[in-house]
Amino acid sequence: MSKNKLSKFADMETYPHVFQPAGSPTDPTPFPLSGRWGKDFFHNDNPIVLELGCGRGEYTVGLARLFPDKNFIGVDIKGARMWTGATESLQAGMKNVAFLRTHIEFISRFFAPGEVAEIWLTFSDPQMKKVTKRLTSTFFLNRYRNFLRPGGLIHLKTDSRFLFTYTSLMIEKNRLPLVFQTDDLYHTLAATTDEEVKTILGIQTYYEQQWIARGLTIKYLKFNLPTEGELVEPDVEIELDDYRSYNRSKRSGLEKSK
Ligand SMILES: C[S@@+](CC[C@H](N)C(=O)[O-])C[C@H]1O[C@@H](n2cnc3c(N)ncnc32)[C@H](O)[C@@H]1O
Repeated sequence: MSKNKLSKFADMETYPHVFQPAGSPTDPTPFPLSGRWGKDFFHNDNPIVLELGCGRGEYTVGLARLFPDKNFIGVDIKGARMWTGATESLQAGMKNVAFLRTHIEFISRFFAPGEVAEIWLTFSDPQMKKVTKRLTSTFFLNRYRNFLRPGGLIHLKTDSRFLFTYTSLMIEKNRLPLVFQTDDLYHTLAATTDEEVKTILGIQTYYEQQWIARGLTIKYLKFNLPTEGELVEPDVEIELDDYRSYNRSKRSGLEKSK
């Protein structure tokens, strides 16, 4: 482990808005702030928005700047990445930002029913081989239902044709209310006159910048997740992204799959 990482971890231990729960990740005991994030941490009852797999937390911090009347929590297992957004928000004195270091598999432990209004999934790994690791699979959607408000919103921003198609099929199969989708976000943004939409969707994450630099188109969709009814997996074979099997630093294969 590099010294840099160690010093980031040491910083994070002192940050009042970073939660790194100790103990077994499978501990079923509700986290002390579950059901109390608004009252005990943010000191307001504003809507809570999660960014799952937040990496450096560009959306967590960027949206928190745009919407001071909402509270944002970035969730990831990688502390050294999260440090960037945690440090930026601390230094800026932002009171509507927190970070939670945990496996998303165990996210239900941290929030009470109806406590979360929206979820952002930003450039999540498409997990083409294992459905239950995919952040828009029924495995995860059922977990989100444990704490999402009825009809709460899920946003997916991705470079992955595979993950975008899979999620669209999930929405279609389960008749989930689709609010908006585009398979070429920046083309769509160029044509819109809605400045708020441009600003929100124009926030670029670290991974997004890498994929754009490699010539990939960015896809985005948002849908409501009702809390009732059984969710089923779409039973359709989806063409795999052909660039995931290449080393990220190599360009080979990228041009083929946009
Ligand atoms: C491809 S990166 C994207 C990071 C960031 N959203 C961005 O766009 O730059 C995926 C992130 O999700 C996190 N992640 C993936 N699966 C996870 C899981 N099951 N639990 C917690 N974090 C996870 C990884 O640690 C990584 O930081």
